[in-house]
Amino acid sequence: MSQPTIESILQEKRLFAPTPEFSQQATIGSLEAYQQLYEQAATDPAAFWAELADKELDWFQKWDQVLDWQPPFAKWFINGKINISYNCLDRHLTTWRKNKAALIWEGEPGDSRTLTYAQLHREVCQMANVLKDLGVVKGDRVGIYMPMIPEAAIAMLACARIGAPHSVVFGGFSAEALKARLLDAEAKVVITADGGFRKDKIVPLKPAVDEALKDNAVPSVQKVLVVQRTEQEIEMVSDRDVWWHELQPNASANCPAEPMDSEDMLFILYTSGTTGQPKGVVHTTGGYNLYTHVTCKWTFDLKETDVYWCTADVGWITGHSYIVYGPLSNGATSLMYEGAPRASNPGCFWDVVEKYGVTIFYTAPTAIRAFIKMGDQHPNSRDLSSLRILGTVGEPINPEAWIWYHKTIGNETCPIVDTWWQTETGGFMLTPLPGATPTKPGSATLPFPGILADIVDLEGNPVAANEGGYLVVKHPWPSMMRTVYKNDERFRNTYWEHIPPKDGEYLYFAGDGARKDEDGYFWVMGRVDDVMNISGHRLGTMEVESALVSHPAVAEAAVVSRPHEVKGEDVYAFVTLEGTHASSDELKAELKQHVVSEIGAIARPGEIRFTDALPKTRSGKIIRRFLRNLAAGEELVGDISTMEDLTVLDKLREG
Ligand code: WT7
Repeated sequence: MSQPTIESILQEKRLFAPTPEFSQQATIGSLEAYQQLYEQAATDPAAFWAELADKELDWFQKWDQVLDWQPPFAKWFINGKINISYNCLDRHLTTWRKNKAALIWEGEPGDSRTLTYAQLHREVCQMANVLKDLGVVKGDRVGIYMPMIPEAAIAMLACARIGAPHSVVFGGFSAEALKARLLDAEAKVVITADGGFRKDKIVPLKPAVDEALKDNAVPSVQKVLVVQRTEQEIEMVSDRDVWWHELQPNASANCPAEPMDSEDMLFILYTSGTTGQPKGVVHTTGGYNLYTHVTCKWTFDLKETDVYWCTADVGWITGHSYIVYGPLSNGATSLMYEGAPRASNPGCFWDVVEKYGVTIFYTAPTAIRAFIKMGDQHPNSRDLSSLRILGTVGEPINPEAWIWYHKTIGNETCPIVDTWWQTETGGFMLTPLPGATPTKPGSATLPFPGILADIVDLEGNPVAANEGGYLVVKHPWPSMMRTVYKNDERFRNTYWEHIPPKDGEYLYFAGDGARKDEDGYFWVMGRVDDVMNISGHRLGTMEVESALVSHPAVAEAAVVSRPHEVKGEDVYAFVTLEGTHASSDELKAELKQHVVSEIGAIARPGEIRFTDALPKTRSGKIIRRFLRNLAAGEELVGDISTMEDLTVLDKLREG
């Protein structure tokens, strides 16, 4: 089993302190320095963030109040005027960074491109002007459905520049999933590409957009801006679709950044929850800019000469905060890679590290486990000596993978930052600071300064050291989500009502189970709700169930996850069929494919199991606990007295 167990965690006592050489050069170079910052921030969070906002960002107009907290609704930097695209671009142009690499991009087929801050600024302004010409005005939502090419970042920054909230949809999502998100966001324009390269294949993107928009299915969409990447034949709908490469040459590179209110919406990003319908997580401008800037700067100990590579896709929050906004706001060099490790080139990541002298490398445990499987010969045959910091995110990292990362990639000298956070939190919440925090394999260690995290029971009482409980955050922080798009009620009941306010203080409920050890180190165990974590991607069991029951052969479906060696978790579906349909391997394959076309390849069930009935309580609720046990091949644990029909379990066990 790849996920850490409670037992393995309690046994994990190894401590890795940063080397003295590393600490000496670090911005925050000792545990005492961290503790001092933490205390300062905890004593007066508003003052702490205000000082940083003043020092680290450029404002068109200063705020007149730091925080307005009407639980669960927070506002930061009231009446401040700011633009994140300005902070990521314009302000660097008056310094030597003007000709520094902002984005280094490596395409999967081996093509590459470097954009300096001046060049990136120019292209962002041009795209912003094209968007304006297409009718986009401040406040309009723009959908972005792109491969990992510079234009994905350009599109985001162009939207931010003119105050049009973007909603990036991961390019691996299907046309159906894209449609649902565009509908909810009521997007006016969609920015896409003909396709992208992934694992030696062309992923068609424009055809998926056409499919999503077919028969005017998303009436709000008026225009589609298409970037040429793969040059395969695609259809262009007249009056709707336009090519970026045809419009760009005539687009003006002069587009002043729109002064935005701190609380103007910067983007919507959809994420899975416990219902079938993904939530549109809303982030606003000022607080998000500040928090991603500061967390990126301190957690990666950013230096002017760093070559920073985050391997995420811009379709996820990690790409938003730590490929685009955080690094660029700091004037760093951010590397983007289009591809994924693949059979034809299992060493491709290490080639990229060697080619560009990557100094900071940030990836996910599932990738690390895949690297382990591919063999040490790949990293060992490349020069990785430029690396100085390693990072991990997305799921609990098993100590074996941590140690491999430390030894084989980090040469036993690079600090590893295990960053726990969420789409909702906008930025890192629990994380080591590499020059300050001794690390323990499998622990995201300590809260970032300004974050008051704790482990509590369902009444909100803190639990004792090493006792399991729910991970909560007590005080608002600048980049916390503001609401669920168009659905304040869902925001309230998802995050603020599972655990009641404690001593008048509202507790943000993260949905993760965790424990804190005797040193105050946090150990995140995983989700406590019906959310799965497949290769670090978040997926709701209900989403997959809805996809399955939308197939005519399916009567009922129950989806759970089971441990998986590389992916962390894998989708396992129990399905009952409509009367006339018989189970068969063909139907199994068809259903798997059906889930892929409803959601995307990340949701493809590893296994589908046909059954006559599902275990239910007398009130008709599916008992997933048993299904999880069955899927993992474990003994059934827990109370069966509430079960409606005990023979169902016997049948499932036999099957
Ligand atoms: C969920 C959030 C924000 C990064 C990408 C995922 C899990 C994330 C860690 C970590 C243990 C982690 C949690 C969390 N998670 N990072 N370092 N250690 N678990 O963002 O899709 O919003 O998912 O990912 O379960 O709740 P996301």
